[in-house]
Amino acid sequence: MKPFLVIGNLKMNLLSEAEVERYLGELHKAVLGKKFTNSLGVIAPPFVYLHQFRDLPDHFGLGAQDMHWEERGAVTGSVSPLMLKDLKAEYVILGHSERRSLFGETDSMIRDKVDAALKHNLIPIVCIGETEPERESGVTIQVVAGQLQSIFEKLSSLQIEKIVLAYEPRWAIGTGRTPSTSDIFQIKVFIRKWFTENFDAKLADKVRVIYGGSVNSMNLGAVSWEAEMGGVLVGKESLYPRELVKMMELAEAERNSS
Ligand code: PGA
Repeated sequence: MKPFLVIGNLKMNLLSEAEVERYLGELHKAVLGKKFTNSLGVIAPPFVYLHQFRDLPDHFGLGAQDMHWEERGAVTGSVSPLMLKDLKAEYVILGHSERRSLFGETDSMIRDKVDAALKHNLIPIVCIGETEPERESGVTIQVVAGQLQSIFEKLSSLQIEKIVLAYEPRWAIGTGRTPSTSDIFQIKVFIRKWFTENFDAKLADKVRVIYGGSVNSMNLGAVSWEAEMGGVLVGKESLYPRELVKMMELAEAERNSS
């Protein structure tokens, strides 16, 4: 079984090198003497601080919050997959709802980014999920199906195995509200069914699906392992290194006991 993923998306926070140093100091302190065999942390800091995050503690990987699909050229303000590789990033979050709503990212742009990430051996953490009006009008499954279709249709099984798929209902991000365990589980079942029908059952079993949206150490079980999710994508709470490590410990204990 792959390790339980606790991915921290720091978003546009930590506003100085001094704050970064403080964060890293707290993180190293929080993991001191702890061993993880069944859970893995990933931290996605702002681009400008990636280099400072290169020396993360054991059991942590480095991620970026976005990237462009092109390798180089006239794309003002963008970051190339080659730059991420050079800074030792292993993961990249793609299609986050804030990128979709604030910067107009579409599924086809996200597909291009996923292709580029795979080409450069970066593990894409691909975000999908419905908006509040979509949920209220009962079209969540159709929305998720459309996103899966647009983003994954043309990929091979080998490529899909490498991806982390994050189900993040957009109304749950930063709101303190989460879907029920059974609502999340239904999405998990649907995603499995979609990959079985469009690829095969073997691949469907291998796809890593995680949950994101208002996750904290109190609701962790209810939004993840109780709903058969293989990890979590954490925003606000990831600003507290001790909370991230606590989630890794809870997941570790859960995996060791089951
Ligand atoms: P949140 O953010 O944990 O603050 O809701 C999650 C995310 O944006 O991935």
